Amino acid sequence: MELFTAINMRQSCRDFLDEGIEKEDIEKIIQAGIMAPSPLNSQPWDFIVITNKNVKEQIWHGVEKCKANIAETSGWKWLDKYSVKFLQTTPVIIVVTGDKTKSGADVFQEGGPVAYQHACAAAVQNMLLASHSLNLGSVWFTLFDKKAVKEILNIDDNKVPLAFVCLGKSAKESVKTARKPITKKTLFID
Ligand SMILES: Cc1cc2nc3c(=O)[nH]c(=O)nc-3n(C[C@H](O)[C@H](O)[C@H](O)COP(=O)(O)O)c2cc1C
Repeated sequence: MELFTAINMRQSCRDFLDEGIEKEDIEKIIQAGIMAPSPLNSQPWDFIVITNKNVKEQIWHGVEKCKANIAETSGWKWLDKYSVKFLQTTPVIIVVTGDKTKSGADVFQEGGPVAYQHACAAAVQNMLLASHSLNLGSVWFTLFDKKAVKEILNIDDNKVPLAFVCLGKSAKESVKTARKPITKKTLFID
């Protein structure tokens, strides 16, 4: 698939068919993530591929709890209508973790290490584009409690779960989301 077609046509998918994905495709998607840039080529990412039903169930329970906590703290009414049940049926959840000891010069700057998170975000976007080009639906998911996910997956202390990439064949056409025009978002300084 042509790159700009993939960029323009990718959409988040939150409704997946109950069908597995070829291991070869999962590896291609992770390889796309690994090709992302990172500070000093530190490659701060690691990937945990979850297809196990019981583990997905545990993840979903944790997310329901997290959602309830955020709903209470924020008062956001829309969260009541936002279903996360798709986490139970998503064929594959790839958890992207970032290693905070693998950041760049920002370690010595105010604000501390954040560049490792930027690099992981670049990896996630590569993975979403790769999924789309393989005709798979995906969504970048972050509504989870990091501590709870670390416990469920027994993740090392230095590593932070930063994103879930939920993957599968789309069950239905996703809704296209709008974007503000380039003129509202760009300043050219000639
Ligand atoms: C950092 C980040 C966090 C996100 N977290 C969630 C999430 O927790 N749940 C979810 O359903 N979508 C999540 N999304 C997806 C956005 O809702 C989605 O990208 C946005 O609404 C634009 O829609 P599109 O991806 O279909 O273009 C996240 C996206 C990003 C970049």
